[in-house]
Amino acid sequence: MARAASPSKPVAKRATKKDSAKSAVKSEAGRDGRIVRSLAPWFAKNGRDLPWRTLPRQAFPSLVSELMLQQTQVSRVQEKFEPFLARFASVRALAEAPESDVMAAWSGLGYYRRARLLHACAKAIVRDHGGVIPGEIEKLEELPGIGRYTAGAIASIVFGERAAIVDGNVCRVLQRLEAKEGHAGNKKVADWAWKRAGQLVALTSRGEEVARFNEGLMELGATVCTPDGPKCGACPLRGECASYRQGLTDSIPAPKPRAKRTRVHHDVVIVHRRGRSGSIEYLLEQRPERGLWAGMWQPPASESPSESNLALGGLLTKIGLRNIGCDESGGPIESVFHTTHREVLFRAWSVRVPDAPSENGRRWVAKKALGGVGISNAHLQLIMRA
Ligand code: ADE
Repeated sequence: MARAASPSKPVAKRATKKDSAKSAVKSEAGRDGRIVRSLAPWFAKNGRDLPWRTLPRQAFPSLVSELMLQQTQVSRVQEKFEPFLARFASVRALAEAPESDVMAAWSGLGYYRRARLLHACAKAIVRDHGGVIPGEIEKLEELPGIGRYTAGAIASIVFGERAAIVDGNVCRVLQRLEAKEGHAGNKKVADWAWKRAGQLVALTSRGEEVARFNEGLMELGATVCTPDGPKCGACPLRGECASYRQGLTDSIPAPKPRAKRTRVHHDVVIVHRRGRSGSIEYLLEQRPERGLWAGMWQPPASESPSESNLALGGLLTKIGLRNIGCDESGGPIESVFHTTHREVLFRAWSVRVPDAPSENGRRWVAKKALGGVGISNAHLQLIMRA
């Protein structure tokens, strides 16, 4: 005889569509929780010992390091960070310093616009916040030089706010984790990454965990989940990584399509003299505030989209040295320099003069002081080759 189901026992229910959607959401939340709880402790144990990573994290050194780290490698920032802080110990000291000192301390880091923005940022903090760096993301984002990423980094790492961060490294980590195709330069992919970072950061707790999680994302991208040859064997998120599971770590993210470079012709005259102390000095002028090598110093130059540029005679006329007796001249030496967006074709002449006025904002700079004035690597190379 068939036994009736005992009324006291729960009868197994068939899973409905709603139930499986609910459990998918639950298991996603479980996975996200595992991601957060694997990465934050991994960072605490494996994060590199970098000079700005003191505990507790200080706002001003973090502001400086985050601005330095925009578009610049950690190794270069490591060299420049401590001397910069030794020269400017506080927001106020930076705000009150002459711009030329800030530029000199920034020298070697490139992208000098950031130095000017950091200086403007310090002034705005003194003017609008009494010299105290704000911890709220909205207030941080209003400051010069601080975009969404840097605001998120400072708010989370220094102030323990649950703010998301996405830069190229973080985007790559998230894309690989979710086998999301495309590349970080694509707006849709970037929007997706910000949303995904927001979902994960929402599961962290305020304070230490969010700081460790966010810096862990950066660190994983920089040291383990690298663009080429990721070290999956050392990855704390390998068990959750969709690209690892599907063998896609080499194809995700897709390589960024190369922007076509614009060709520009730069004619340069390297005017030098023997200074009073006996050392060689170079005549330099400052580049415009915007565009390529904005605000940096260079030997007098002219730029043209075509080959018919000023050449030596035209350059000397432009700087009022046409009729000055040159001791010696040489060139042109031709060279090509690539930046992200431009192919710069240089022709460089070298002219030694007994003496010459430094008019129209031009100045004489001793050879050994060149490193401290804010000059691009391209121009330094031209000078050294002349
Ligand atoms: N890149 C940007 N911010 C960073 C940080 N705090 N540590 C390492 N690399 C970074």
